[in-house]
Amino acid sequence: MNKLFEYIWVLSLAVFLYWFASFFISQAKKDLATAPQQQQDMAMTASQPMASVTPSLGEKLFKSNCASCHKLGTKLIGPALSGVEERWAAAGDYQGISAQDWLRRYIRNWQDPVKAGHPYSTKIINYDPSAMTTFPQLTEADVDSILQYIN
Ligand code: HEC
Repeated sequence: MNKLFEYIWVLSLAVFLYWFASFFISQAKKDLATAPQQQQDMAMTASQPMASVTPSLGEKLFKSNCASCHKLGTKLIGPALSGVEERWAAAGDYQGISAQDWLRRYIRNWQDPVKAGHPYSTKIINYDPSAMTTFPQLTEADVDSILQYIN
């Protein structure tokens, strides 16, 4: 009788160990299988700011933030914005910063280029006595989207 219990005990221990080992092996296999997928997911999140620059986002942002003062083809309170990138590009680089970057800075906070003495922006602030709103909350991608919509 004692021997029988011993067999049963040893057998159940073996079964338990087998189950335990196969559980861990299957977990390890699963981790290996999902690792490349996770890397891919991370790569996709890292490149998302690029992906979110779209003219349709730009249109939405323009209508909610800029349309009260700007139209594309005709002047309103502010100048017509069509061709704005070319106008800034024609003004050229300043202090080692590209014309495009100055334009982006101007849109987020026009005081930034004006304080830096950027010639085109200091000229344009005399356009209208009412000042343009500042938009520090707009991200780089937001501003790029708006410019894509304008052009
Ligand atoms: C409260 C009115 C107002 C709002 C809102 C406004 N602007 Fe302006 N904007 C102006 C005025 C006025 C000027 C001309 C400069 C001046 O007189 O200060 C100007 C100038 C500009 C210029 C330079 C134009 C050129 O010909 O070089 C750009 C670019 C510009 N705004 C973009 C925007 C964008 C983009 C938005 C929305 C995110 C916006 N503005 C919202 C009033 C406004």
